[in-house]
Amino acid sequence: MFGLSQDKGIVGLDIGSHSVKAIEVKAKTKKDRDVFEVSRIGYALLPHDAIVEGTIIDSTAVVETIKMIFDESKFKNRNVVISISGNAVIIKKISLPAMEKEELAESIVWEAKHNIPYPYEETNVDYAILKPPRGAPEKNLDILLVAAKKDKIANYSNVVNQARKNLVAIDVDVFALQNALEVNYPEEFESKILAIINIGANITNIAVVERGNSQLFRDLSIGGFFFVENIRKELNISFDEAEKLLKGIPSKSIPAEKADEVIHFNIKDLLDEIDKTFSFYEAGEKREKKIERIYLSGGLAHLKNMAGAFEQKFNIRTEILNPFRNVHYDEKKLEPLYQEEMAALFGVAVGLATRKMEK
Ligand SMILES: Nc1ncnc2c1ncn2[C@@H]1O[C@H](COP(=O)(O)OP(=O)(O)OP(=O)(O)O)[C@@H](O)[C@H]1O
Ligand SMILES: [Mg+2]
Repeated sequence: MFGLSQDKGIVGLDIGSHSVKAIEVKAKTKKDRDVFEVSRIGYALLPHDAIVEGTIIDSTAVVETIKMIFDESKFKNRNVVISISGNAVIIKKISLPAMEKEELAESIVWEAKHNIPYPYEETNVDYAILKPPRGAPEKNLDILLVAAKKDKIANYSNVVNQARKNLVAIDVDVFALQNALEVNYPEEFESKILAIINIGANITNIAVVERGNSQLFRDLSIGGFFFVENIRKELNISFDEAEKLLKGIPSKSIPAEKADEVIHFNIKDLLDEIDKTFSFYEAGEKREKKIERIYLSGGLAHLKNMAGAFEQKFNIRTEILNPFRNVHYDEKKLEPLYQEEMAALFGVAVGLATRKMEK
């Protein structure tokens, strides 16, 4: 989406509201298959108030954090791809009759004007033609229409420019996640109905893919920040203390059971919201559809027994996404921590770094 063509390796830069993740992946083609290898990786936390509700407020803090990651992890490549998410991004799947390229461009503008809840002039619009589902009539084109608010794009591009990086493309979190899934779990991707759920600090991204075909994308305004805020209020403690409890770090003043109880209610709310999205998908068409596997990523995927809570609620096998399953990670050259405890944080960044560039 919103990209220029680029053949050299790129850095996937995931500017989250809790932390920034960066990864450079080298791609080679071996026997007609893409083979990926991580060459650089880095991560740093942001101050709490640097990005609030998806808007970069303290751009200096974000710029300095990006620069620091590049310096400390010795990134040489300055070409980056970032992604955006939340309600400034609208994704719609539409179906149009097959037509010539010029005609299609005109139709897209018309569709965008009628399908997107923001004034057309305030958005950047892009689209991708989806591969037709098996057995579908060829007369129609399934199109993924994407519109992003220009101010959101400017807000995120600015920090990249100020950090003196070369912004090659802007993607969307859910597309990056879908890509990370395809790269790392190609057999499941092609043969099953999968959901990938990235539970971050401010947003939970959901993508449902049916045997390789994108079905549904959603961003829910729920995540770790809300959990921490609720723990803080409920137990009358500081934000930092509440975050420690969320991460399972014991506190002297609060018994672990009390914290677990609040966390339990927050997980319940999160699962109820996700349930609505699943029901929307499963009730969408006449034929029976059932999600067969869930992959979790993001900071909250690390919560004690989060995968178990999903399995219990939905009765669907759930595992934590391993973005290095098919992306070779040489732990002799790179910090092993990223490959082990922190892997789930890199779903979006790996998806960005391994994306196919538009030609
Ligand atoms: N080990 C852990 N256990 C529980 N929660 C964690 C853990 N590590 C991080 N978190 C929580 O996960 C959240 C951060 O996740 P993540 O890095 O995926 O978010 P982000 O990408 O920065 O944010 P967003 O994409 O929503 O803007 C924070 O709320 C943090 O408190
Ligand atoms: Mg994130």
